[in-house]
Amino acid sequence: MHKIKKAVIPAAGFGTRFLPATKATPKEMLPIVDKPTIQYIVEEALASGIEEILIISGHAKRAIEDHFDSAPTLEAMLEKKHKDDLLAMVRETADINVHYIRQRHMNGLGDAILCARSFMGGEPFAVLLGDDVVYNEGKPALRQLMDVHESYGGSVLGCQLVPDDKVSSYGVVAGEKIAGADLLKVTDMVEKPEVGEAPSNMAVLGRYIISSSIFDILEKTPPGKGGEVQLTDALKVLAKNEPVWAFNFEGLRYDVGDKLGFLKATVEFALRREDLGADFRAYLNEVLK
Ligand code: G1P
Repeated sequence: MHKIKKAVIPAAGFGTRFLPATKATPKEMLPIVDKPTIQYIVEEALASGIEEILIISGHAKRAIEDHFDSAPTLEAMLEKKHKDDLLAMVRETADINVHYIRQRHMNGLGDAILCARSFMGGEPFAVLLGDDVVYNEGKPALRQLMDVHESYGGSVLGCQLVPDDKVSSYGVVAGEKIAGADLLKVTDMVEKPEVGEAPSNMAVLGRYIISSSIFDILEKTPPGKGGEVQLTDALKVLAKNEPVWAFNFEGLRYDVGDKLGFLKATVEFALRREDLGADFRAYLNEVLK
């Protein structure tokens, strides 16, 4: 089976849920503790075996490009002051193989993915959405999807069960059980269904392996929910022609596109940190007394 080597990370959106912070700063650069959210996503891709990353960029997103680049003045200063740890940290992100293309019009996630067509060169590829950060002590979420792809072929959607009142925030799948409770063969998909209209509680949570046939479909996909070209609508068509699997991946997933989700990620990642965890826990206990 084909090994997935390329991934796309859409990062062109306005980030209106985080205004005014996102007026001049890309939402992908908002830090969880001290690392931009997009770096967590990029690190998951690399840890999963991805070799080339395409970021779909857009207006006012230059800070992302600067982040994954060398920073000569900063590096010279850190070198002079013998701050070796910080220097290594700053240089680490400059060595990652990141490419960029700009989405010129904000026509939705499906349109953003279509921008990746020539980069993917007809191969199946991975998609990671920046709003979904997954914490995992075992196999990274994307690696779990890649393993399913290597065993079963086709496209793979990273899913988890969400409560009834949350289905309207996600793409939701219907499918036939294949291997235990963790793998479904997708038969239907709905983007952000109303509560009561969802075909199940299995929601797509920002990780995908997608066959390159998706591009021809996306070209013909009319705007859907919210007047935008939806990836979910194209995947539903794909599932009629080729196998699309919904895989219930393991990992603690944070919706960092949502304010409460972002705060939860900040608190929990800080509590897990060796350098901060103990002091932060003591502080929280004090505050919550
Ligand atoms: C997008 C997708 C949706 C998916 C979600 C995961 O929605 O359209 O199908 O479930 O990401 O986070 P968004 O949250 O970008 O509106």
